[in-house]
Amino acid sequence: MNVLIKEADIQKKVEEIGRQINEEYGDKKPILIGVLKGAFMFLADLLREIDIPLEVDFLSIHSYNGKESSGVVRITHDLSLNIEDRNVILVEDIIDSGRTVSYILENLRTRKPRSLVVCSLLSKESRRVVDVPLNYVGFTIPGVFVVGYGLDYDNRYRNLKYIGVLDDK
Ligand code: IMP
Ligand code: MG
Repeated sequence: MNVLIKEADIQKKVEEIGRQINEEYGDKKPILIGVLKGAFMFLADLLREIDIPLEVDFLSIHSYNGKESSGVVRITHDLSLNIEDRNVILVEDIIDSGRTVSYILENLRTRKPRSLVVCSLLSKESRRVVDVPLNYVGFTIPGVFVVGYGLDYDNRYRNLKYIGVLDDK
């Protein structure tokens, strides 16, 4: 395992994004929606850097088989909150081809939120197939497969405190 982004750098970046959200949302009482499972750690840390009123919800999707995106996305666990007329921040672990988040955005838009933006810890811009507007991005990374800090390879490595690149084995 090679460390790509170390724990301290993740923390600093998460604080920075939290500060931005504090400033930009003020009293808008946003709903932060975490996309499970990958975003759980980022969302948990991010929330603790935000000190304005907010609500949290989760969405569970199934889209990924091993190392390649299938492009087929299914919501396996839906929101419990009504997002109509609310300011929504979709929190993702990583945007790769962009297919998953586009699908989710399309779905959420039908529920008529007042605003809808994307916050992703990681973005692999060179891998994009579908264009996605990202309002908050932690790190732009090369098109390599990464694990840790919530991200998995076949459900392993989510518990790492850093983002690492898996050796080709
Ligand atoms: P996309 O639909 O190609 O943008 O893929 C997005 C989803 O694939 C993410 O939410 C992750 O769950 C997964 N994914 C993409 N790249 C990686 C990676 O490098 N490591 C772990 N999961 C990834
Ligand atoms: Mg994900």
